[in-house]
Amino acid sequence: MSGHRYAESIDSIDASPTTPFFPGSRDSSSQHPKGPLWRRYRQSLLLLAVFSLLSLTSFVLYTLPDAQLQVPGRTSFGSTFNDPRSPRLRALVGPPTVRFRDNLRNDTKYITSWISAGWTNDVMTYANLIYLGLITGRTAILHTFLPSHVGPGAPQIPFSDVFDIEYLSEKIGMPVLEFSDVKNMSTASEEIEEIGCWSVWEAVELREGRPRPVYTEWEQGLSISWTTAPPWVKKIPDYEHDRFARFWDLAVLTYPKGRQENLGTPQPSRTGATVHPDEHLVCFDYLYYACASTSDEFIREHSPAWRDVLRYFRWAPRMQEIADGYLRRMFGVAETDPIPPYITIHARRGDFGAYCGFANLTLGDCFPTMEDYARGIVGIRKELEQRLGISPKHIVMVSDEKDSIWWEVVRIMGWYTPDHEAEQTVERYGAWRVSVRMYPVFIDAVIQSSGVGLLGSPGSTMSIIAGRRVIDWHGGAYHNVPWKVCSFSCWKNLS
Ligand SMILES: *[C@@H]1O[C@H](CO)[C@@H](O)[C@H](O)[C@H]1NC(C)=O
Ligand SMILES: *[C@@H]1O[C@H](CO)[C@@H](O)[C@H](O)[C@H]1NC(C)=O
Ligand SMILES: *[C@@H]1O[C@H](CO)[C@@H](O)[C@H](O)[C@H]1NC(C)=O
Repeated sequence: MSGHRYAESIDSIDASPTTPFFPGSRDSSSQHPKGPLWRRYRQSLLLLAVFSLLSLTSFVLYTLPDAQLQVPGRTSFGSTFNDPRSPRLRALVGPPTVRFRDNLRNDTKYITSWISAGWTNDVMTYANLIYLGLITGRTAILHTFLPSHVGPGAPQIPFSDVFDIEYLSEKIGMPVLEFSDVKNMSTASEEIEEIGCWSVWEAVELREGRPRPVYTEWEQGLSISWTTAPPWVKKIPDYEHDRFARFWDLAVLTYPKGRQENLGTPQPSRTGATVHPDEHLVCFDYLYYACASTSDEFIREHSPAWRDVLRYFRWAPRMQEIADGYLRRMFGVAETDPIPPYITIHARRGDFGAYCGFANLTLGDCFPTMEDYARGIVGIRKELEQRLGISPKHIVMVSDEKDSIWWEVVRIMGWYTPDHEAEQTVERYGAWRVSVRMYPVFIDAVIQSSGVGLLGSPGSTMSIIAGRRVIDWHGGAYHNVPWKVCSFSCWKNLS
């Protein structure tokens, strides 16, 4: 039946089971000093409980604490270029130019990087890029989301179609740009510009011996000459099973002396140019494996890329509206009525079956059972009852499972399911200049992030990010379901 088509890539690189994120030990109070900010936050939690009769989601945008980051030395928000569309664009000389360089302000420094994994991991990668920009005072330039994992031929999706880029820029106190703001994309591929960039991938991934691929080099009209980052950026030298680099080690390369001292032999670009890494627009091939202190840091309480950046990736209003429409129709709630508070189960199955294979278990013996999910829901309800005094009755299952019998059992359990086929997700939203095939992915992600509870899959970055949203945006509860394959630590958080 259903067209649950999302799938994050499961190459050993990006989807390895991770240690869990422990929401149980981490109610919202643990991360906010008990000052006025905390009081405001607590108020908003109370409001949330009281007004859970209102749409949860319309609220989301207005109740989180202000955490304007003060970035020393930033001046680029004040400018001569007054674009009525958005103050963020003042970080550029003007409207998109034929050559990206003509649009870079001489009083502003920039940073860019690329993506090449499953969608959630790409979101995390962009958050890392923006975070590295924040700590180095550089304006981040993002390119689009690539639907490479969705299937060939699916068009790219602008970041700002999925996330509210104006809100993000405002909250982090720094403009966030899209490459299409900078360079005119209708002529970009013909207007080839050479640029020197750092390859972090070559320094941290010891076996491949080449930069991480930049799939959009041609369409962006770039011709990139790579310089391998110095070996000391690799957090654990010579250790092939960890590919992380620390933000501040990478930051060194963005400053004039750090750059100068680490110049190497640039590799020829596709047009044969050899250029040292750019100073004005510093660029790195791949930043998924960046952290402040700990590998796979998004699962950790302290994750600064979550706390200072990704937390402010709010859904574009249109995206939220579409998901709200789904929820209302699923629950049989009128368009004008509020969506009841609900708990989502994110059952990542599909490609995760590979882990069962590694453990020599059949899928039936390996994946969580319906009873496991039901027990998980009991645990989340208990936490919500204790903490917020609510006990949501509506349970939504989202999964990449294809087996229609499995979905039948889900419905017998009394759980709701977004039915992308009946909803004709692909047909309905095709007109909105967006990859129609990505819609089920986005809608499932918005649904997971908009409830007051999430029962996630251990090792899934999609669960981790959605779980953090549930906790920080709604004051809700996030646990992972137990999973046999993840026998050491991934499910301790279930009470
Ligand atoms: C920087 O750009 C401004 C505006 O285009 C120009 O007036 C100024 O002379 C430039 N400064 C330098 C040092 O190039
Ligand atoms: C981009 O280039 C196209 C083709 O030359 C042109 O029609 C369009 O006006 C340009 N856009 C901007 C913002 O300059
Ligand atoms: C799975 O079976 C293979 C072949 O029998 C064996 O080499 C491997 O160690 C087993 N793996 C586990 C996790 O038990």
